[in-house]
Amino acid sequence: MTKPSVAIVYHSGYGHTKKLAESVLEGVQESNKATGILISVDDVDSHWEDLDHATAIIFGAPTYMGSVSAGFWIFAEKTSKRWMEMKWKDKLAAAFINSGSQNGDKLQSLHAMFNLSQQHGMIWVGLGLMPGNNSSTASIEDLNRLGAFGGAFAQSNADEGPETAPPKSDRLTAKHLGHRVAEISARWEAGKP
Ligand SMILES: Cc1cc2nc3c(=O)[nH]c(=O)nc-3n(C[C@H](O)[C@H](O)[C@H](O)COP(=O)(O)O)c2cc1C
Repeated sequence: MTKPSVAIVYHSGYGHTKKLAESVLEGVQESNKATGILISVDDVDSHWEDLDHATAIIFGAPTYMGSVSAGFWIFAEKTSKRWMEMKWKDKLAAAFINSGSQNGDKLQSLHAMFNLSQQHGMIWVGLGLMPGNNSSTASIEDLNRLGAFGGAFAQSNADEGPETAPPKSDRLTAKHLGHRVAEISARWEAGKP
C-alpha cells in the first residue's frame, strides 16, 4: 500500500513559523508512516493537487494582531473553490500556531483554523499531549510547554531570529504533531473500505 500524504501548508512572514513547519515535516518523516510535503502559502497555486491528494492537511501560521496572519487567511479564502465541491471532506486536519507573546491570543488563530477545517468537513486531530511546564518541578524545556490541547503552540521571543526562536521545546512539540498526524493518517487510510 502506498503511504498516505501529509501536507503542511503554512505562512511565515519572518521565518519563525517556517522553522516550526520544518519540525512538523521532520515528525512526519520520522514516523515512516506517511510522506510529507511542505507548502508555503506563497507557492500554494502550484500545489493545489498536492493538497487535494493529501490524506491530512496541517495548517500553520503566526498570530498577527490577535488572529491568524493575513497571509494565511488569503490562502484560507482561496480554498473556497474546494469548499464548493466539498473536495476536502473527511481529510484529517491539524494546526500549529506561533506568536511573540506567551499567550498572544494564539487560541483565536487556532479557532480560525479549526473553523476552516470544519467548513470543509475535515476531521480535527489535536495535539494529544499532556501540558508541560505547569508544576514546580517542570521546565520550559518540556514538550508542550505552553500547555495547548487543540494544536501545537509555539512562542518566539521578539528580539530573536528564526535561528533560535521558537525554542527547541516548541520545535519538538511541532515535531510530535507531525508524527501523530502521520500515524493517524496511516490508520485512517487502512480503515477505509
Ligand atoms: C503585524 C504583526 C502582528 C503581530 N501580532 C501579534 C499578536 O497579536 N500576538 C502576539 O503574541 N504576537 C504578535 N506578533 C508577533 C509574531 O506572532 C511573532 O513575531 C512570530 O514569531 C512571527 O512569526 P513569523 O516569523 O513566522 O512571521 C505580531 C507580529 C506582526 C508582524
